[in-house]
Amino acid sequence: MGSAAAARTPWALQLGVALAFLLATTCHGLNHEGWLLLTLRKQIVDTFHHLDDWNPEDPSPCGWKGVNCSSGSTPAVVSLNLSNMNLSGTVDPSIGGLAELTNLDLSFNGFSGTIPAEIGNCSKLTGLNLNNNQFQGTIPAELGKLAMMITFNLCNNKLFGAIPDEIGNMASLEDLVGGD
Ligand SMILES: *[C@@H]1O[C@H](CO)[C@@H](O)[C@H](O)[C@H]1NC(C)=O
Ligand SMILES: *[C@@H]1O[C@H](CO)[C@@H](O)[C@H](O)[C@H]1NC(C)=O
Ligand SMILES: *[C@@H]1O[C@H](CO)[C@@H](O)[C@H](O)[C@H]1NC(C)=O
Ligand SMILES: *[C@@H]1O[C@H](CO)[C@@H](O)[C@H](O)[C@H]1NC(C)=O
Repeated sequence: MGSAAAARTPWALQLGVALAFLLATTCHGLNHEGWLLLTLRKQIVDTFHHLDDWNPEDPSPCGWKGVNCSSGSTPAVVSLNLSNMNLSGTVDPSIGGLAELTNLDLSFNGFSGTIPAEIGNCSKLTGLNLNNNQFQGTIPAELGKLAMMITFNLCNNKLFGAIPDEIGNMASLEDLVGGD
């Protein structure tokens, strides 16, 4: 019965499936996370050209400077370390789309503007180092959603107001360095 049904499958459908497969496997182009990172870079001033190898022609951002991916058949960005690269500009909310991100280190740069609340969407973050920049405004309450957080450093910015209460509730937090 099963094989009879398979034999009756219209060949046009089979061709469609074959074409979809071909498109999926041969149609190169930067993956979604790569585009998120390029969106991020658009708001970054990179005077010393540290991010010149962030190439839209690559299939994924996994080989880019500062980027590390998980291993496996669909590698995802797990860490972004742009520490100490003389970068300035602002941090685009697109960062929140990096769903597998566990470590974000933007420390020792000249980033300004507010900390995007969307970072709270990176729910697997265990390390967030935004210290030694020029970030302004209040610390977004959304960061309190980051339940896996272990290292959290916002020192030496122009932030004001309290660290959101929720961050104190982060069960696994070992190293909380806030404010100032
Ligand atoms: C990426 O991983 C390699 C090896 O695991 C490590 O040496 C390197 O520091 C990591 N880079 C970043 C940006 O985390
Ligand atoms: C990021 O890279 C710097 C060296 O460039 C290193 O000192 C720092 O520990 C890294 N941050 C993380 C979170 O691994
Ligand atoms: C950053 O800029 C300073 C000078 O403004 C320079 O001494 C230093 O090497 C630069 N660092 C990097 C990582 O480009
Ligand atoms: C990301 O976070 C923002 C602000 O916290 C929220 O409004 C938005 O819906 C979130 N987006 C996704 C895709 O989760």
